[in-house]
Amino acid sequence: MDQRDIEGDLEKVLLTEEQIQIRLKELAADVERDYADREVLLVGVLKGAIMVMSDFSRSLSRHASMDWMAVSSYGKGTKSSGVVRILKDLDQDITGRHVLIIEDIVDSGLTLSWLVANLMSRGAASVEVLVLLRKPDAAQVDVSVKYVGFDIPNEFVVGYGLDYAERYRNLRVIGTLAPHVYS
Ligand code: PRP
Repeated sequence: MDQRDIEGDLEKVLLTEEQIQIRLKELAADVERDYADREVLLVGVLKGAIMVMSDFSRSLSRHASMDWMAVSSYGKGTKSSGVVRILKDLDQDITGRHVLIIEDIVDSGLTLSWLVANLMSRGAASVEVLVLLRKPDAAQVDVSVKYVGFDIPNEFVVGYGLDYAERYRNLRVIGTLAPHVYS
């Protein structure tokens, strides 16, 4: 969907399709340089990361394996608790692998903090993180994120994988919702 397809639903557009694609290409160049002598395993976190994974991985000009996890935070409806449940685990053993977690957003940081520790405990050779969006003002825990697309204000955003009640994931841009959508 484009912005015009959901006319009036967005209060403002934070990032256009072009801005997102340009930034992902820059991040891909950084990752290629840093992993020049190692094959990276991209681990996408469902469902929000599907668009980032799709476009970032295609921006790489070398091989990168992919795997997926789905996790759910207990108490997510109100506030992240930091207690995470695995809904879908990796398909493979990651012992000795160089893992790059691909996420759409780091908000409180609780999900990623748990995920990094979890993957390290499985014997990965390294675990780094790439996020498209980071909300510095919402951080509750300090997570080391090596690759950040954009720092954004502490506002609820949708689009490009990010949902409100499972809608707007297929929106090309990232933006904030108009108040009438919530009511
Ligand atoms: C979002 C996002 C991260 C998490 C970040 O996922 O994809 O996984 O929340 O929040 P935190 O930093 O406060 O822990 P969500 O639970 O909304 O699931 P989804 O990706 O399926 O939409």
